[in-house]
Amino acid sequence: MRPNRYIIKIFLVAISIPFLLGATKNKPPHFDYEMLPSGCATCHRSANFRDGGGPGVCIICHGNPQRLNMDYKKRMPAGFGKKIRQMKDIERQFTKLYRHPSFDVRGKHRSKEVLPEIDPAAPRHADCVDCHHPHFVSKENKYAGIRGKRLGNIVTYITEEYELCYRCHAESANLPPQSTNKRIEFAATNPSYHPVEAEGRNLAVVSLIRPYREKKVDNNDISRITCGDCHGSDESNAPKGPHGSAYQHILVANFSTRDKEPESDQAYALCYRCHNRQSILGNESFKYHALHISGSAGPTSCKTCHNSHGSQQNKYLIQFDPSIVTPNSAGQLKFEERGISVFKGSCYLSCHGVDHNPKEY
Ligand code: HEC
Ligand code: HEC
Ligand code: HEC
Ligand code: HEC
Ligand code: HEC
Ligand code: HEC
Ligand code: HEC
Repeated sequence: MRPNRYIIKIFLVAISIPFLLGATKNKPPHFDYEMLPSGCATCHRSANFRDGGGPGVCIICHGNPQRLNMDYKKRMPAGFGKKIRQMKDIERQFTKLYRHPSFDVRGKHRSKEVLPEIDPAAPRHADCVDCHHPHFVSKENKYAGIRGKRLGNIVTYITEEYELCYRCHAESANLPPQSTNKRIEFAATNPSYHPVEAEGRNLAVVSLIRPYREKKVDNNDISRITCGDCHGSDESNAPKGPHGSAYQHILVANFSTRDKEPESDQAYALCYRCHNRQSILGNESFKYHALHISGSAGPTSCKTCHNSHGSQQNKYLIQFDPSIVTPNSAGQLKFEERGISVFKGSCYLSCHGVDHNPKEY
């Protein structure tokens, strides 16, 4: 026999009394009486949460402020609607062309599911509750209460943003075929990586724009970046988070991955946020950068030579794009560096019909 929904409702109200009376100090915002006047029942009205309830539960308050007038306002005390109307509209980010499928794939989340997924046939999804636990979120920690990597029998809770992403973009057995394991790409044991998990290895990234710096020396220096520095909304004043963007791969700025696309400020806007365009095109490190990026050997994308995340094989994030770069006449496809911070190396490959066997710089 299924329990009557009113009994569940009474149970939820009863269990929420301590929260409403302030038994817990520093209440998370979702348990704050000022914010959620009906306590647990504000969300648990319909009482079937085995599939997490979907985005509808959240966008009552985090969505289009107009919605409130239609649905919730009637039930809420006078001051409440005003507060909610001032909140950021997260829902709008999900109307962008590139987005997490929180609205597109519904009803696939399970409240008891364990991520990373071990079933290759499990449907890929990303509900609001996969990234935010509604009982624990706070201004300081928006992924509080989300489980991370399991170490033996111990469940760890996420403290770093990248651990959240690895729940679905690392060891998942259901990764899409074109996707790669991000934990492997960012591993601090790699010869090179963008400094998300740890400070980077290269001490001569001459193109870096301050406050970005290879190693933190002064207080204002930034030597570590986050997934969110590159993945997020295209609007600078939008709510934080990789919800949706007008740019491909949910990037905060445009990044062209196409071969033969003319170089411009816009084409590689993402990289030029942190790497000085004049330095790159002025060949301050690789002396043939301009020749390839904007000149006669190209024009070609940074992606033709660099992996944006990290490289398991080479320094300088070098990982050639196999759809453009192929083995040379001797069947070799590799990069060799010759000395550290001296900007010298050799390439063995074939590209745009030019044999490199090797070509040196
Ligand atoms: C009844 C209204 C309401 C509902 C429903 C609701 N929230 Fe909230 N949420 C709030 C309020 C109020 C805050 C406090 C932050 C603020 O004042 O902007 C908050 C804060 C948050 C934060 C932290 C952000 C910050 O800046 O403090 C996250 C993340 C969040 N909510 C996600 C969710 C998710 C996911 C759901 C659905 C499962 C959800 N919320 C449902 C009202 C609501
Ligand atoms: C901001 C909205 C919100 C509020 C407020 C809220 N919950 Fe929840 N709760 C959810 C969502 C969404 C889930 C499903 C989470 C998931 O599937 O990962 C959930 C899950 C649960 C579950 C687990 C259900 C299951 O099937 O595993 C229980 C029990 C629960 N809530 C009780 C409470 C109690 C008690 C309160 C008040 C103290 C409360 N909730 C307040 C949104 C909320
Ligand atoms: C609960 C699972 C889940 C979590 C956690 C998650 N994602 Fe995703 N992500 C997805 C799904 C599902 C897609 C749709 C494409 C796919 O299946 O990979 C996606 C797509 C993306 C894409 C676009 C991929 C493309 O091919 O253009 C990016 C970028 C991305 N996620 C970044 C992140 C970042 C950054 C984080 C951490 C802040 C994160 N994701 C956390 C499930 C998740
Ligand atoms: C320095 C900028 C930068 C950072 C930091 C970054 N990304 Fe990316 N990411 C990119 C770019 C550029 C692309 C698209 C082009 C490409 O594939 O190289 C991309 C593509 C992706 C994709 C789609 C391709 C795929 O393999 O599925 C996912 C998912 C993704 N990133 C996840 C992450 C996660 C998770 C993190 C943090 C652990 C992260 N990214 C950090 C720049 C970045
Ligand atoms: C793939 C993971 C993912 C999904 C899915 C997701 N979020 Fe987020 N969200 C994040 C991350 C990461 C942040 C940024 C945390 C930070 O950097 O402070 C964030 C930030 C937020 C914030 C705070 C924004 C700010 O600027 O203060 C709110 C509110 C929020 N999310 C609500 C939602 C709601 C509602 C949904 C579903 C409609 C949702 N999120 C879906 C990962 C996600
Ligand atoms: C034809 C291959 C190729 C292309 C295309 C290319 N690079 Fe490079 N890049 C290299 C090589 C090789 C190095 C290593 C130089 C050395 O030995 O230190 C390098 C080094 C770098 C460095 C580290 C040193 C520095 O200058 O700070 C950055 C940053 C960089 N590239 C950014 C870019 C960006 C941004 C683009 C696209 C606009 C791009 N590269 C396109 C081959 C390439
Ligand atoms: C949010 C800032 C940021 C963005 C955006 C960014 N980078 Fe970087 N990048 C850094 C930092 C910081 C380092 C220094 C890491 C180190 O010291 O090894 C770095 C280092 C590098 C290196 C040298 C790595 C090594 O180990 O030699 C290359 C190559 C590079 N970036 C290419 C790119 C390309 C291509 C893009 C655009 C897809 C890009 N970066 C976007 C911050 C950024």
